[in-house]
Amino acid sequence: MAEGAHSALRWESHRRAFEGYLEGLRFTAEPRLAGLEEAMRYSMLAGGKRVRPTLCMETAWVFGDEPAHVLPSAAAIELIHTYSLIHDDLPAMDDDDYRRGRPTAHKKYGEAMAILAGDAFFGEALALITVHQKAGVEQVLEVVRELAGSTGVNGMVGGQVIDMEQTGVGDDTDPETLHLIHKFKTGALIKSSARIGAILAGAREADKAAVSEYASELGLCFQIVDDVLNATATREELGKSAGSDAEQGKATFVGVYGLDGARRQADASEERALAALSRVDGDTSGLEEMARFVRNRGS
Ligand code: IPE
Ligand code: IPE
Ligand code: MG
Ligand code: MG
Repeated sequence: MAEGAHSALRWESHRRAFEGYLEGLRFTAEPRLAGLEEAMRYSMLAGGKRVRPTLCMETAWVFGDEPAHVLPSAAAIELIHTYSLIHDDLPAMDDDDYRRGRPTAHKKYGEAMAILAGDAFFGEALALITVHQKAGVEQVLEVVRELAGSTGVNGMVGGQVIDMEQTGVGDDTDPETLHLIHKFKTGALIKSSARIGAILAGAREADKAAVSEYASELGLCFQIVDDVLNATATREELGKSAGSDAEQGKATFVGVYGLDGARRQADASEERALAALSRVDGDTSGLEEMARFVRNRGS
């Protein structure tokens, strides 16, 4: 079988194992909290692409670990990502009513429940790592430290703040600020997803550094493509709103560099991601395939 066929099968197997694990997650036995759990499961089981958790699983595999071993941490990452989407869609932020092909959490359950479901995901993510992730104390601590860094002020939330501040400024955003938004709001968690797979697999420092460089480029490429798709794809294709970035005056690669310019930057970012992989000691065919997927995806 060709190498590409092997890695495609592996991705499919990660995805299936991950969906099964997520489907099995329950957060409470308290009947009074059934509504909160329902709202959480509504958003998390709506069928996202699962890029971050499967990237974590594949990276663990590259460094000789069993992908199933990292499932609790992979799920923690996806819960945090889901929380970020719920909050990103709130009226106070992007004010979107459609996500993952269904009404957003606040449309379905109200704003208060949507905010709290997002908050609860963060706590449950920490529980998954500290209670359910089988690993040494040092490794667990490193995973928590990794996520604390990538989701905090100098990561996802900080990126969202600068994104909000630049809303309305749009095309006049300076390139440095634009790069910072993308690196923080999206790149940081994607980078952590790969790093956590490497940490739990006990990868060497040099390999962790190379895979970090790959995943940080992958994260940038991911958000540039998100900007392109917002401008070019339909709501049906995306399962979320389309054309909204231009309407709201968001700071995007398409606004600042034009559509072709944004596509060229996505190509260059993919190239840099692939170049970083040549320094990884292991079978990186699956990670190469992920870079191509992120660049060429249609949703
Ligand atoms: C969307 O992320 C939000 C961004 C950070 C660009 P995804 O495109 O990974 O969304 P899902 O998980 O597939 O729904
Ligand atoms: C979402 O960015 C980033 C986070 C949720 C952290 P966007 O607002 O650009 O993504 P979409 O287009 O709503 O998915
Ligand atoms: Mg946003
Ligand atoms: Mg948004």
